[in-house]
Amino acid sequence: MKARGVVRVPGDKSISHRSLILAALATGRSRIAGILDSADVNSTASVLRSLGVAVPDLTSDFSLSGKGLRGLNAPGSPLYCGNSGTTVRLMSGVLAAHPFESRLEGDASLSRRPMKRIAEPLTAMGARFEFARGDGLPMTIHGGRLAGITWNTRSASAQTKSAILLAGLVGGVQVTVIESQKSRDHTERILTSLGAAVESDETSVSLSPVSSLSPLELTVPGDPSSAAYFIAYAVLGGGEISIPGVCINPTRAGFIDTLIEMGGKIECEDRAAAAGDSVATIVARKSSLNDFTVSGSRIPSMIDELPLLACVAAHARIRLEVRGAQELRVKESDRIAVVAQNLRALGVDIEELNDGFIVRGRSGPLAGRIITEGDHRIAMSFGVLAALPGSSIEIDDPACVSVSYPAFWDDLKSLQR
Ligand code: S3P
Repeated sequence: MKARGVVRVPGDKSISHRSLILAALATGRSRIAGILDSADVNSTASVLRSLGVAVPDLTSDFSLSGKGLRGLNAPGSPLYCGNSGTTVRLMSGVLAAHPFESRLEGDASLSRRPMKRIAEPLTAMGARFEFARGDGLPMTIHGGRLAGITWNTRSASAQTKSAILLAGLVGGVQVTVIESQKSRDHTERILTSLGAAVESDETSVSLSPVSSLSPLELTVPGDPSSAAYFIAYAVLGGGEISIPGVCINPTRAGFIDTLIEMGGKIECEDRAAAAGDSVATIVARKSSLNDFTVSGSRIPSMIDELPLLACVAAHARIRLEVRGAQELRVKESDRIAVVAQNLRALGVDIEELNDGFIVRGRSGPLAGRIITEGDHRIAMSFGVLAALPGSSIEIDDPACVSVSYPAFWDDLKSLQR
């Protein structure tokens, strides 16, 4: 059962959310090819519908007529954001600049995630936030006229950065965001491609007011976070896999860079420019990997792939140390605890740190039951291990992959034939 073949991964989730939101705020009809049709992006679509935007189904030839920068209607009921942190945090920036009240709600996982990180800067700009309990959803935003701001997030969060940029965009005020390390930069890239005055360097980005936003014409590139599962499968599994059209934006390429440094045989072929970003065909082959430590500015560029890297280390029987990744504790699950608990269930030695983990891969087959906690990235990371020859692994909730990659299991199976 050798892995060999071609996989086309769906459109990038981060770019899909941003394209939808910016298309809704544009003046005129946007055309977005290859938008991701997953539960998370549908949460953004349904929130926008509740605000008066006529968002059609997320098909491959998607188009949307925008309402202009401040044209959203007050919602008649709470805005349900499902499992999607990107929906809540980016839409909060938009809603903070609209003169009405909106209540945001989410599922149990999303309701546990911290929201003060966006409420603080948006409050400093002039919006008012109310929390029903603690730091999470439900949260009510009283939006209105905003003032410009320079805000240091003291972290590398693209969601916080984007909330502030969108508040500045809709509020018509100058904003500057400073980060400790550079986070994914899709919001600023799309805004730049639409002619907005964006200035950025390694850790800061400024946006000047615009009077209106031109409609988007873009093709969403393949999601590097989705491609990562097949890259890992090829590297561990013995076959050769080619994945065309994957976004290789440097702020997202940390998993590929790291695996190459670990000895992974991975090549980026047919590089091309696309929608203000770069795409390539990724070709990955069976490789033998060496021990590795990941920390510092590499972390944000592979934050969503760290659970997968832990699984790779376990299977490749190497030592992997990850530090500086405390953000993993507040993702769709506590990904440090959930990775540790599940690798242990497979008999792997893993030490849990406050801000990461140390995996010492073991010899022998991996066998056991994975409790995903409903987290799509946990299901797919361990799903890769389950698909490799010699494993005997059961995933408790395979359906949770619908958050980012509904066809994941079919695509993985297609490689095993
Ligand atoms: C995302 C940013 C990251 C990432 C998430 C998607 C985005 O979160 O983990 O899956 O689309 O902006 P943070 O901004 O919290 O780091």
